[in-house]
Amino acid sequence: MYPEDSSVVDGSLTVGGCDAVALAREFGTPAYVVAEHDLRARAREFARQLGRLHRGPGEIVYASKAFPCTAVLRVFAEEGLGCDVASGGELHLALRAGFAPERLYLHGNAKSEAELAMALEHAVGTVVLDSEQDADRLLALGGGPRLLARVTPGVDADTHEHILTGQAGSKFGMPPETARALADRVDLAGLHMHIGSQIRSLDPYRRAVAALARVGEFDVYDLGGGLGVPYLPGDAAVEPGEWVAGMVEAAHEELGEETALVLEPGRALVAGAGVTLYGVESVKPGLAGERIVAVDGGMSDNLRPMLYGAAYHADVASRVGQGGVTCTVVGKHCESGDVLVRDVALPDPRPGDVLVTPVTGAYGYAMANNYNGVPRPPVIFCADGEARVVVRRETYEDLHGRDV
Ligand code: LLP
Repeated sequence: MYPEDSSVVDGSLTVGGCDAVALAREFGTPAYVVAEHDLRARAREFARQLGRLHRGPGEIVYASKAFPCTAVLRVFAEEGLGCDVASGGELHLALRAGFAPERLYLHGNAKSEAELAMALEHAVGTVVLDSEQDADRLLALGGGPRLLARVTPGVDADTHEHILTGQAGSKFGMPPETARALADRVDLAGLHMHIGSQIRSLDPYRRAVAALARVGEFDVYDLGGGLGVPYLPGDAAVEPGEWVAGMVEAAHEELGEETALVLEPGRALVAGAGVTLYGVESVKPGLAGERIVAVDGGMSDNLRPMLYGAAYHADVASRVGQGGVTCTVVGKHCESGDVLVRDVALPDPRPGDVLVTPVTGAYGYAMANNYNGVPRPPVIFCADGEARVVVRRETYEDLHGRDV
């Protein structure tokens, strides 16, 4: 559950060589803690597997929406990945973090003219067209980038409906026949698909790749991201290497062995590298006999349980793995749905304990908000026993910093 370079000694958790309770004391809670070596290891593993298995050109592209923080982007730029940006804001962040513009992929189902112009101005390498209007607008602005058309392959997958994107009725991409017609009038380098997120089977990918093959032959195929990760002890997972192998195999069978292949993982690059530290504020009995453990964060730092019913694990950072009483971990927000973890056995948690939720590196920081005037947490990078703040905690002044 914990990042690669974590350890538990006598129940005490260290991440990247830093003691979790000491981190909480030094930087306060809640805090996002990221094991830097773990991020790098994941990037290398994806790239190594793609390089090993695919003879044609290949590229791993980080879907930056998963953790759009400069320090994380910089790590992946240094590791040689490309970067998927889905808005002008993400484009701005990726450029600032040091990505070469030609390694950027501009996505989005509602790109504005300003965003397209920004992509041209900065010489973004690839624009993924989501509609015919995207193509017309871009060409009217002068064109330039390599063009891919996002195809809706009409494939369902076993994941939450809010993060399913390749099925009939999806707002993303264009039907195969539209892509075919577009290829007749604009210079399309290739096709793109992204069938959804937190997918833990290769089968829907195979069916979607087969749908792309029926659109026609191209030089480049970007097969998107979506590889699911284990969130709970005992969760089954497809390993990155297994996923890359499955994608490459499907591509070789359906699209040919020499085409350029692009894969765009987001979650699988960052989820497991991050944990969130919370302070326990109160512990009380619930009416059903459960224990309600309230922490100093909640739906402002992790919306996923509320949006997708996502399940998380929790431990007391100084007594890891020492199960005990069944607890419900709740946040501090004025909302009944503000429940971070249900039915987790914790060793008699007490106010003042540091609670840790593993696998919170993906889409937590990304979707953080200021509900109830709660300042967003800092991001702390840990490596080799050294901790550094890469994003500071928001202040109360930040809460009114945009007032005019
Ligand atoms: N490529 C495209 C075009 C995407 O839209 C996405 C994610 C990815 C790649 C990366 O997908 P990943 O490997 O991270 O699954 N907020 C939701 C996830 C939304 C994903 C949106 N698109 C969540 O917290 O589960």
